[in-house]
Amino acid sequence: MKVVVLTGAGISAESGLKTFRDSNGLWEEYNVEEVASYNGWVRNPGLVMEFYNKRRSQLSGVQPNAAHTALALLENKFDVHIITQNVDDLHERAGSTTITHLHGELTKVRSLKYPELIYSIGYKDIKLGDLCEKGEQLRPHIVWFGEAVPLIEYAAQIVEQADILLIIGTSLQVYPAAGLIHYASRKCKVYLIDPQAENYYGNSNIVIMKEKAGIAVPPLVKELMEKH
Ligand code: APR
Repeated sequence: MKVVVLTGAGISAESGLKTFRDSNGLWEEYNVEEVASYNGWVRNPGLVMEFYNKRRSQLSGVQPNAAHTALALLENKFDVHIITQNVDDLHERAGSTTITHLHGELTKVRSLKYPELIYSIGYKDIKLGDLCEKGEQLRPHIVWFGEAVPLIEYAAQIVEQADILLIIGTSLQVYPAAGLIHYASRKCKVYLIDPQAENYYGNSNIVIMKEKAGIAVPPLVKELMEKH
């Protein structure tokens, strides 16, 4: 059986990373156009790098939570694919092995001019003047607003194959990622876990769990593993 998991910032909230659109979220503190768009980068690359340096350094000080850990356990029984909008590495650190990062990864940077030149930098800072092997500036390996999401078609194919789809901790406000739910087949069982979920879906084909991920995901994983 194939279990596909679509995660958003909410799954990492209990690890201590802020979400984007909740009250007190990152987009209240920062202007998204300034720090997370290509135009913002052109206007002030130093500010953009500082924003992601801060995210990266914060990430080094937090740990996966009970929800990440439970999802990794699913692999003992199912063919599991995690599709995450998150740029953190908490699914990896919890032990999940098949992860698609739709919006990029904080622990990687790439060449501004040669996008195929991608480097792992761990939790280190980058700054203006840090160059790729061909002498071009490095930028965060992040999909910014207004940029294409290169892995979206691949992710849609994965969702189509799902027998069970778990959607955890995402406001489903940002496309194209939010549209992935529509690729689930009619026989696919969908679970939506988010404290604010009922604000978005009233569909009876979906099991809605209006709960924090750390509370709801571990028992759900246990139930799925016992039932199937
Ligand atoms: N457990 C589960 N869900 C939670 C928790 C929690 N403990 N805390 C908050 N949430 C939920 C909120 O209710 C909200 O629906 O997480 C969701 C976070 O939504 P957003 O902040 O919009 O994050 P996300 O959906 O991941 O955003 C998508 O937007 O800015 C971009 O590129 C960024 O990948 C990100 C994309």
